[in-house]
Amino acid sequence: MRVLEPRAEPDGGGCPVMDHDFSRQREMGTYWTLANELRESCPHFYNRYDGGGYWVFTRYDAVRDVYKTPEIFSSESITPWEPDPVYRFVPTQLDAPEHIKYRRILNPWFSPTAMAAAAPTMRKICRDYIEPLVPGGSCEFIGEFALLYPTAAFLSVIGVSIEHAEMFADWVDDFFSGFGGDPAGLERMTKALGDMRVFWSEQLADRRANPHRDGDLFCYLLTASVDGQPIDDEVMLDMCTVLTLAGLDTTRAELGYMFHHLALHPEHRGQLLESPQLIPLAVEETLRLYTIIFGDGRKVTRDTEFHGVQLRKGDMVYALVSGANRDPRHWERADEFVIDRRRNNHFGFASGPHRCLGMHLARREMQIATEEWLRLIPEFELGSDAQLLERGGGSMMALHQLPLRWEVRP
Ligand code: HEM
Repeated sequence: MRVLEPRAEPDGGGCPVMDHDFSRQREMGTYWTLANELRESCPHFYNRYDGGGYWVFTRYDAVRDVYKTPEIFSSESITPWEPDPVYRFVPTQLDAPEHIKYRRILNPWFSPTAMAAAAPTMRKICRDYIEPLVPGGSCEFIGEFALLYPTAAFLSVIGVSIEHAEMFADWVDDFFSGFGGDPAGLERMTKALGDMRVFWSEQLADRRANPHRDGDLFCYLLTASVDGQPIDDEVMLDMCTVLTLAGLDTTRAELGYMFHHLALHPEHRGQLLESPQLIPLAVEETLRLYTIIFGDGRKVTRDTEFHGVQLRKGDMVYALVSGANRDPRHWERADEFVIDRRRNNHFGFASGPHRCLGMHLARREMQIATEEWLRLIPEFELGSDAQLLERGGGSMMALHQLPLRWEVRP
């Protein structure tokens, strides 16, 4: 990292200009440490890395206000290193008034009630992935569980056969190799997007030929309308792609960090075994402390002053969620895992109108995974002393691998 000359601000004050590459793979935990350092050294700075440049807001209050004012911070682009992306994700990149029309269609499918109804099936899927691992005494948690279980759970929730889980897990992995700005991954990313689209087009054609299936998101979307018109095929394919990309990689990443924590903290495993009602709180604390969202991008819609910075229309900003979620100005014991933390208003699922559509699904998946894993494998530890690596925070952080081991009971 280099700190460059201060950029003049309208009030005459200086704002640091830096040159950070947020896309690189680093040792696990480095991105949260970096976010802490950035937040404590400056409330905002201008990051020049990657050509265009963008403003970074590092503290809780500013991140909250970015999310709270979507009329100034548009979702037209959420990746500040790519202000004019070639793709358009629905509903992610839509602003008001279009955005809510699509959320109204999708929200009921992923509501708390719908997810409660889906829980028994998810639990069965979860057990089916864990049970075969138990006698082996070890596993590579990410590849053998965290990628596959949320994928299968998600497919079952939208009515697609879970036999496709492995194929989806590969696509999602390939996509995120390019999303964080790493040019080496771009080719894999583009191919994965193309393959996924072909799959969804075939599913769509199949539902047109065989409509009226219960519990099938496609059949539901085919009957939905926006402004009195059926949803356009292209938009429907966009929506499916977003659901896939937003839902699968994220949950595997959070599961990875949560189980890394539990492997290192037998006292927390003990508490969860003794008091399972703490599991939802522990999931929430994972989403705060081990947030996988390094930052979230927005595009400025008009000239405005924001938290001491003169922003211009078209500027990109990056709300440093990882900084906000550990900001000691907002949180007590900000850097600690407080297993029974109450009023945990973190930004792990963002905030404002784009707050994660799938948060009730993700929470359920994580809660069920914890319950079932601890039931079948109550004691476990890291399977290796090797340094763990995480994918760059430019997209979302994720552990590549997590070896775990446990004693096999006779
Ligand atoms: C632990 C897992 C998850 C995390 C940490 C997570 C995080 C997020 C975040 C931070 C956003 C806001 C992005 C932005 O505004 O720029 C978001 C949006 C979204 N998430 Fe999730 N997510 C998770 C799981 C899921 C799942 C399982 C689904 C599947 C249904 C899903 C679907 C979506 C969709 C469709 C959006 C766009 C919502 C909108 O723009 O209105 N997510 N998620």
